[in-house]
Amino acid sequence: MTVKPAKKFFEPLAIGAPAPLRELPVALERMVHFFPPHNEKLRARIAETIPQVDVLLGNLEDAIPIEAKEAARAGFIEVAKAHDFGATGLWTRVNCLNSPWFLDDVQQIVAAAGDKLDVVMLPKVEGPWDIHYLDQLLAQLEARHQVRKPILIHAILETALGVANVEAIAAASPRMHGMSLGPADLAASRGMKTTRVGGGHPFYGVLADRSDDAAARTLFQQDLWHYTVAKMVDACQAYGIKAFYGPFGDFSDDEACEAQFRNAFLLGCVGAWSLHPKQIDIAKRVFSPDVSEVLFARKILDAMPDGSGAVMIDGKMQDDATWKQAKVIVDLARRVAARDPARAAAYGF
Ligand code: GLV
Ligand code: MG
Repeated sequence: MTVKPAKKFFEPLAIGAPAPLRELPVALERMVHFFPPHNEKLRARIAETIPQVDVLLGNLEDAIPIEAKEAARAGFIEVAKAHDFGATGLWTRVNCLNSPWFLDDVQQIVAAAGDKLDVVMLPKVEGPWDIHYLDQLLAQLEARHQVRKPILIHAILETALGVANVEAIAAASPRMHGMSLGPADLAASRGMKTTRVGGGHPFYGVLADRSDDAAARTLFQQDLWHYTVAKMVDACQAYGIKAFYGPFGDFSDDEACEAQFRNAFLLGCVGAWSLHPKQIDIAKRVFSPDVSEVLFARKILDAMPDGSGAVMIDGKMQDDATWKQAKVIVDLARRVAARDPARAAAYGF
């Protein structure tokens, strides 16, 4: 495969477009909070929502009725222009590339609010060619509308072909911000036999061996998404971008939502989508590191100031590798602390 030469990789794709970023901006993104921008009542309350969420996303794609597609786009532009978002990220999920709305979504939003927009979430990405197209289009529009900060791309991993190409998607452009698992579309694309949006399935499990006590034979439920999340995290981390778990659709089961989010967090994801306001707090709880973990991680860093050698802490062996693990947790805790005074105090910052 011919790859673009390293020196060309960071050249702007249009004359007058801002240079691509070499590193992602440091941002806390524990939840990407979806709102339907055509809903006037929600738009009127958006000023209250902004400080409560790490990322606010105007959804233009699935779940927005066809007759409301244009109103959703216009509603998003209105929100983008009317508010100051401070440390809260502003994203939009545009319609997919083969839809009749995609081109107007991108053109109109960049024209009207390109300087406010941090990230475009692109659904149903199947390979690097999808990213290259949006990359070039964004550069042309940034140049035309004098956008000063490059708009980043976040792909949804939600087709079998996308999963097969996940590394090439992650590597496709310096504009790549990250990726979210889209379990609903992915289940359909793969032919999985579930009607759920994320979460487990009671029939997907491992049956304990036969024993003399027949009653003790238990089916241990397994995580349907383990393989894909792990594959996505490896692809993202390998290419310096961020992995997210996507939607959890059963709003009546907060415990299951929390368990799904936690598995993703432990495996390396930085956040998840919140589709219901109550999922905002679930995500904050899960994607902010646990206080006891942070305190222990701080002990490791304090005991090994230069990050090398070996020490024992509370009976546990620590070395250069556990120092790096501890640093992941403490760095995240510092990002959380910068936005959350209560957690800052609990972490001892
Ligand atoms: C999200 O878009 C999904 O399909 O799960
Ligand atoms: Mg989807």
